[in-house]
Amino acid sequence: MRRIALIPGDGIGKEVIPAAWRVLEETGLPLHFVELEAGWETFQRTGNALPPETVAGLKSCHGALFGAVRSPSHRVHGYSSPIVALRKILDLYANLRPLVSAPVPGSRPGVDMLIVRENTECLYVKRERTEDNGDTAIAERVITRRASERIARMAFVQAERRQKGGRQTSLVTIVHKANVLALTDGLFREAALAVAAAFPGVPVEEQLVDSMAYRMILQPERYDVVVAPNLYGDILSDAGAALVGGLGLIPSANVGESFVLAEPVHGSAPDIAGQGIANPIATIRAASLLLAYLGEVAAAQAIEQAVQSVLSNGPRTADLGGKAGTEEVTDEVVRRL
Ligand code: NAI
Ligand code: MG
Repeated sequence: MRRIALIPGDGIGKEVIPAAWRVLEETGLPLHFVELEAGWETFQRTGNALPPETVAGLKSCHGALFGAVRSPSHRVHGYSSPIVALRKILDLYANLRPLVSAPVPGSRPGVDMLIVRENTECLYVKRERTEDNGDTAIAERVITRRASERIARMAFVQAERRQKGGRQTSLVTIVHKANVLALTDGLFREAALAVAAAFPGVPVEEQLVDSMAYRMILQPERYDVVVAPNLYGDILSDAGAALVGGLGLIPSANVGESFVLAEPVHGSAPDIAGQGIANPIATIRAASLLLAYLGEVAAAQAIEQAVQSVLSNGPRTADLGGKAGTEEVTDEVVRRL
């Protein structure tokens, strides 16, 4: 019996996690679910966005599915984003974000790329301070050789796996801005290129992040595996989501040596929360990624097939131009499964 933690969080997280839960139940796999809490509402109630019971609960599980949490854009004393903290606490050093063409209006054809985002450092170490009576704000950016090497290794291993899976053209694109940030991005670049040398069978190129944003939108079908420091990877993957059907469809997996936490790329979507209209597909796909990483490849593929079939035939939620609610879409995924 595998133990799976479920953390709905805030906003539409509370709507899409129950949807994915139903789909996971429908697989018939021997899974035991553990509901845990985290996020803004948890913070307001308990003073802690990531209670110790949640961390302990997670450590008793084999993997987790995370909804989304709401984080205020201003500083709130004592609050810190639990998902950023969890990535660090559980050392989930790689954030894998597949972007694949979907059979929906607005999706570009021929896209099949994987963004491999470093998940533990860069500007997200959150070492911010003010000087000059608050008129100057400074953020430190940390890049280490160790983290850059291991994320690059993950990217090349994924590229090899995709090659073996039958992909025609294989390519790892290393994203950086070493022309300006010669020390930090320079180190990321150097470490990634050193790892590349150990994978002679995988073609490699480098791309400055600004021109990457441009090229990715111009010619997304050209890319295979894209590896980037934390902030660049975060931005590129949201932009990439817009190419293949939007945030309502895109899952991600936070992967460490011995744990995986899957989640949709989207946030708590306060503009549509509580209305029952959130697209559950991103989270259902996150559940599929979770199963794949736990070795349940057949069940993971069955979920993805059910999703593809629902995307092709409907019903669809409003973000995809449809009129269906979260539940109706979930019902149909479950039925096709
Ligand atoms: P967001 O991803 O929540 O929403 C962006 C836009 O996409 C909104 O118009 C929203 O309605 C739409 N959208 C997102 N997911 C959707 C879905 N499943 N179905 C249909 N439409 C969907 O990003 P936003 O608005 O910038 O952030 C809202 C809150 O979420 C913030 O407090 C932010 O801190 C938090 N956030 C949390 C993340 C996490 O928990 N991993 C990731 C990103 C943001
Ligand atoms: Mg993001």
